Amino acid sequence: MPLNGIDHVELFVGNAKQAAFFYTRAYGFKLVAYSGLETGARDRASYVVQQGRIRLVFTGALHSDSPIAEHQRLHGDGVKVIALSVPDVDHAWHEATTRGAEGVTAPHDATDEHGTVRLATVKAYGDTLHTFVGRAGYSGPFLPGYRPRTDGSEDTGMLLAIDHIVGNVEHMDPWVKYYEDVFNMKEMLHFTDEAISTEYSALMSKVVSDGKGIVKFPINEPAEGKRKSQIEEYLEFYEGPGAQHLAVATRDIVATVAELRRRGVEFLDIPASYYDEVPGRVPEVAPIIDDLRAQGILVDRDDEGYLLQIFTKPVGDRPTVFFEVIERHGARGFGDGNFKALFEALEREQDLRGNL
Ligand code: FE2
Repeated sequence: MPLNGIDHVELFVGNAKQAAFFYTRAYGFKLVAYSGLETGARDRASYVVQQGRIRLVFTGALHSDSPIAEHQRLHGDGVKVIALSVPDVDHAWHEATTRGAEGVTAPHDATDEHGTVRLATVKAYGDTLHTFVGRAGYSGPFLPGYRPRTDGSEDTGMLLAIDHIVGNVEHMDPWVKYYEDVFNMKEMLHFTDEAISTEYSALMSKVVSDGKGIVKFPINEPAEGKRKSQIEEYLEFYEGPGAQHLAVATRDIVATVAELRRRGVEFLDIPASYYDEVPGRVPEVAPIIDDLRAQGILVDRDDEGYLLQIFTKPVGDRPTVFFEVIERHGARGFGDGNFKALFEALEREQDLRGNL
């Protein structure tokens, strides 16, 4: 099952127009395409924004009886489709459905004056879908049915690509097996509840990745703690399994986070004491430790290098979906050395919401 990478991520939201405004103005994306009443769509409005190789689609319903409205009523704003670019959609569909994925939409062409895109969709965790996209024969702004649209927003160049997308589920092993069986992915890492726990909160996580390491999907499940795990809080408020965070790569995390903060993005607060031990743990970052502390950026290392990362507060009303910004220097991990400091920070937020 060869994968070229993540083609796009589509979120079903309560107000796609305002979501697109938020992601262009706060996160520095450029508006590139639109589909809605004016383009012939009768049931939805979709706005496509782009930054580097990241493409996000925000879709809202135009009628109360729409499945989009039902998804939003149930889950709040959330990720509906993690679309995967593949060299051969028919082959991907055949392999996936033969190996156990539930089919949603069989391979079909979508065509307009810019060419043809081949599409097919299978189910993933919860109400989340994977759409296979073959766009080699297409030159339009996104997909047939979409028109180019601009609003003065520009690609700020801060965020370059999707590094990984995390799913929260009740039980991770069946979903790890799903990605192994259906996508021929391999488990590259796993974290037990002992590694990732604080006094109150715990989770277990396994990371699956395609052979080339381009597509990485960590899968979390809640673990037993004294009080409610952050994964349980997600599952309760998302009302089921779903995508928890999108991690996006940057080359200069200090400048990127400073600019995102200036634009209004909210990040989790990290206790100042976290930085006392960082230069000992990761000497490479000692020269920029003041910048990291000022921006609240976390530091972790593995055998192959180090990484810098930071987590936003939830992007919607429910304590569910959020973003991570990550700058890798060789390290291939996901910041498990930060989990304790991170969890303590997350739990302070959870406590403020009365959910701990
Ligand atoms: Fe992450």
